[in-house]
Amino acid sequence: MNNLDSYKGVRDFYPQDMNNLNYIIDNWKKTLKKFGYEEYNASILEPTELYEAKSSDEIVSEQTYNFIDRGDRRVTLRPEMTPTLSRMIAKKSKELSLPVRWFSVPNVFRYEQPQRGRLREHWQLNVDLLGLENKYGDSEIIQIAYEIMKDFGLNESDFVIRINNRKNINQMVKSLDLPPEKEKDFFKLLDKKDKMVDFNDEMFKLIGKPLNISMGPSEEIEKIFEILNKRGITNLVFDPYLVRGFDYYTGIVFEIYDTNSINKRAIFGGGRYDNLIGQFGSENISGIGFGMGDVTIQDVLEIRKLLPNKKNNIDVYICLFNEESSNYANQISNILRENEINTIIDYSFKRISNQIEKAVKKNSIFTIFIGEEEVKTQRIKIKNLNSGIEKKLKIRDLVKFVKKELSS
Ligand code: HAM
Repeated sequence: MNNLDSYKGVRDFYPQDMNNLNYIIDNWKKTLKKFGYEEYNASILEPTELYEAKSSDEIVSEQTYNFIDRGDRRVTLRPEMTPTLSRMIAKKSKELSLPVRWFSVPNVFRYEQPQRGRLREHWQLNVDLLGLENKYGDSEIIQIAYEIMKDFGLNESDFVIRINNRKNINQMVKSLDLPPEKEKDFFKLLDKKDKMVDFNDEMFKLIGKPLNISMGPSEEIEKIFEILNKRGITNLVFDPYLVRGFDYYTGIVFEIYDTNSINKRAIFGGGRYDNLIGQFGSENISGIGFGMGDVTIQDVLEIRKLLPNKKNNIDVYICLFNEESSNYANQISNILRENEINTIIDYSFKRISNQIEKAVKKNSIFTIFIGEEEVKTQRIKIKNLNSGIEKKLKIRDLVKFVKKELSS
């Protein structure tokens, strides 16, 4: 095979890409730990049945990666985490002390048409609060969503939080008296509203009259706005058309939108799902949470130059004059590494100028030169590449010297 591309819609992560992904994930984890959330995970593989009753129709029939294993079991690559989380909670419902505050950063797979912000594999922060069925639970989850954005260095004016309650729309749909199939199409259509030019026409075709959704926020939403306002969160908007694409949402739904004119789109979202866990046959436990993908947030940060330009962090690069010096170089590198000083040894035995060039390219802070003389005298020649200062040291003084320079 001589095609160098990765599979359609997934990414190779070169070290710089890995730096970006790790930066995003580390930031997520830092924020969640501040709120006392515990991390969990599960396998990428799930039995297909898990999604058939509990996700959205569109996801199951069009977007999952399915296969039959060698034991004739139907297997799905997880397209989202909420069904897995619900299964895990249901399984331990008797032992868990509620409310449960959990987070996870799974990679999830969806068979979608790749485009800006949409890929076939992404890493998705999942934050969920289970067993706290009130406005404070709703508010905490929205506050965390807000806090994550702030912790990335974004300001309130960079994003808005659109909020709705599925109850309003669910009630309205009931009054339309549509057959179940059309009911599903209704939510699908509403979820795509912003991307359509002929939304009103399509909706008219489906329900046989103009869509009339009540435009005032319910009391429940007003209360949440009040709580969040008091916490200093004011970039909130009531959006009566917001539904989100999953069947399991039962209450508050919300979505965070970028306000930048070149990236005006949903970044992430979530909502309340109060009947999902009960579907596993255990006692019912309420839930609210959200999912936030690495792809969309990376776009947001890139546009605003908020991704750190992190370079490889090598502290010491050891240049060797000849093969005979390599044992001595290894002794020295052991001492450095034991002291958590990141060290590379250049075994190319090329010209020293060439090795220094490599050290500079690797962004090393120091170079150490080792040749016959250094081996004989058991000394080290070290150069700080930032200041240009060179020193000859005894081995026992090396760590102290490097640490001192690194901290200055
Ligand atoms: P979702 O809206 O399908 O919700 O996905 C959540 C977020 O994951 C999206 O807003 C977006 O940031 C990211 N995302 C989704 N699909 C893709 C894709 N194809 N490529 C890149 N990023 C993507 C859920 O999955 C719910 N399970 C979230 C949830 C958790 N609700 C309650 N708890």
